[in-house]
This record gives sequence, C-alpha cells and structure tokens, in this order.
Amino acid sequence: MDRTLVFVKPDGVQRRLIGRIISRLEDKGLRIVGLKMMRVDTALAERHYAEHKGKPFYEKLLKFVTAGPIVAMVIEGNDIVAVVRKMMGKTFGLEAEPGTIRGDFGAAKTFNLVHGSDSAASADREIGLYFRPEEILQYARSGDEWTFD
Ligand code: RTP
Ligand code: MG
Repeated sequence: MDRTLVFVKPDGVQRRLIGRIISRLEDKGLRIVGLKMMRVDTALAERHYAEHKGKPFYEKLLKFVTAGPIVAMVIEGNDIVAVVRKMMGKTFGLEAEPGTIRGDFGAAKTFNLVHGSDSAASADREIGLYFRPEEILQYARSGDEWTFD
C-alpha cells in the first residue's frame, strides 16, 4: 500500500483542529500507521524544506513550522499522495476550494494547517525524517476489505 507523510502544523494544533483534521483522514477510510505529537527543531525544518531554501518565504516558513508542536502521521491508502493533496487543497487557505481542509479551515497564506508529501519520492524521504521504522505499524483494520480495492 502507498504511504505519505501528513502533519497537522503548529497553527492546527493551536487552533484545536487536530481531531477534526485527523477525522477527515479517517472518514475517508485512510489507514493511520504512525502517529505522534512532536516539536520540529530548526535542523529538521531545514532538511524538510531544503527545496525552498533561498525563496522569499523560507525564513518565515522555518519560524512557523518550529513555533509549536505538530502532530505527524504516516498514512496508507491507494494513490495516497494524490488523495491527501486533494483533501488538503491549494497551498493557501485563501485560495483553497471549500470542502478541502485548507479551504474550510484556513484564511491565510503561511498558516495553512496541514502538510502532505507532494510525490512518492518526497513521501519516502519525509517519512524517514519524521519516523523511525519501528514507529510505523503494520496492521489490518476490520472493514479494510470494504475500504480498499
Ligand atoms: P506543504 O509542503 O507545507 O505541504 O505545502 P505545499 O506543498 O502546498 O506548499 P509548498 O510550495 O511546498 O510551500 C511550503 C510551505 O511554505 C509556506 N509558503 N508560504 N508565498 C508564501 O508566503 C508562501 N509560499 C509557501 C506555506 O506554509 C507552505 O505550506
Ligand atoms: Mg510542499
């Protein structure tokens, strides 16, 4: 099964949206195989967002993502990267479609509530940054036979 890295960003935690964001993933039928609250330090933020180094928003992004705890998850499902990106909506809540997480809960640019890997290769890399192998569980849920095809 395909995997992706998702996290509720510091604004989502501060705005008490952890449960509602995770509920959306669960409601969709996606399987959570890793889950933890943690603090991203500057070194991890720099590794995660290396592709954005030098861009005008880079420093603000590092400050944002290290500003408070996040809730990180490894999620499984078919075509999971595309499915989660669709559920998240466009990068800025101001532009994201209603019905998406960012579209329904966000009205800012920087503060956009949730992260999701943008490709299978990013997912592999990012899962390795946030989770040790033993923190990712393999299990089946009752009902998975009616959820995944
Ligand atoms: P993410 O990586 O966090 O899941 O978000 P994304 O793919 O939708 O957006 P990306 O282009 O990778 O940008 C990473 C994060 O940087 C902040 N950002 N601010 N112009 C700006 O002010 C700006 N552009 C990007 C956002 O927090 C975005 O999620
Ligand atoms: Mg991105």
